[in-house]
Amino acid sequence: MNTISQCVGDANFINVRGLGFDHIHMKLESLNPAGSIKLKTAIGLIDFYEKKREIHRDSILIESSSGNLGVALSLICAERGYPFVCVVDPNTNINNVKMMKVFGATVITVTETDNNGGYLGTRIKYIRDKLNEDPRYIWMNQYSCPANPETHAATTAKAIHRAFPKLDYLFVGAGTTGTLMGCSQYFHQHSPETRIIAVDSQGSVTFGQPPGKRFIPGLGSSQMPPIFNNAHLHGRLLVDERAAIGMCRWLARSNGVLSGGSTGTVLAGFCSMAKQINKEATCVVISPDAGERYLDSIYSDEWVNTRFEGMHALLNDPYRIFTMLDETVIHLTGE
Ligand SMILES: Cc1ncc(COP(=O)(O)O)c(C=O)c1O
Repeated sequence: MNTISQCVGDANFINVRGLGFDHIHMKLESLNPAGSIKLKTAIGLIDFYEKKREIHRDSILIESSSGNLGVALSLICAERGYPFVCVVDPNTNINNVKMMKVFGATVITVTETDNNGGYLGTRIKYIRDKLNEDPRYIWMNQYSCPANPETHAATTAKAIHRAFPKLDYLFVGAGTTGTLMGCSQYFHQHSPETRIIAVDSQGSVTFGQPPGKRFIPGLGSSQMPPIFNNAHLHGRLLVDERAAIGMCRWLARSNGVLSGGSTGTVLAGFCSMAKQINKEATCVVISPDAGERYLDSIYSDEWVNTRFEGMHALLNDPYRIFTMLDETVIHLTGE
């Protein structure tokens, strides 16, 4: 490879054992440089503005990120020599902030919540103010930029289709919905029989539900992502964060996979639908990042117990998660 960002690992799948299925494959995006699926988003966004010739010698790239995109953009900006400002919030993992700074990024933390109780509105307002004040700023705008879904159609979705040409189900988490939209568009075109199941956290507004408090970064949004549409989705699931935590802990004990919270969310979604799925079916679950970044949150008993009630039994016995799924996962219909 010429550069670190070319080392994308789009062919890494493992079989998840212990769920009663022979063909449930987890796509491990944590093996990418910058440690998450967001490396591909970052490359897609910066390539897009470079191709449009919007990035000049004095440009400053700016983005709002809950963490992983910020780390990935910091890496690409270090590689390509661009100054980068990342706007984060108090839910952002401190190690992510440290990594961004190591790559040379400037990190701004907003602390005021918006009308929906999240931070997205405040982060976006900070960026809009900067754009109005200083024309050197270029907003990557992952929530609206068409390059976000396009890059996942061209990489993530294509790689899954190549590995599993006859895929029955694909489970994808929804944050900005770039991964989800890229996958749903690609599969609609190339493998329309594949059922695309979108998974989000309870408290997110993306599937039209009321906003609520969320603690796990990655999935969910306090404002409807402009790139999202329901058109080619076959199911939508909303997972309680307690189930996501339980699933992460089960996955570590049972398969030796230390995963991030969004992986637990998507896997909880799969498990809650498992009764409806033929045991011979081929299923892929996308795992966006790894768990090292969450040792002080979802893998800390103290962190969990101070934020969620009634978690003691689950923390003592991660296998209990399977008794909780009916009450912690909401199934909305697809369209
Ligand atoms: C850990 C993690 N999971 C899932 C996602 C959601 O991906 P997308 O923004 O493509 O919906 C993100 C996005 O930041 C993430 O960081």
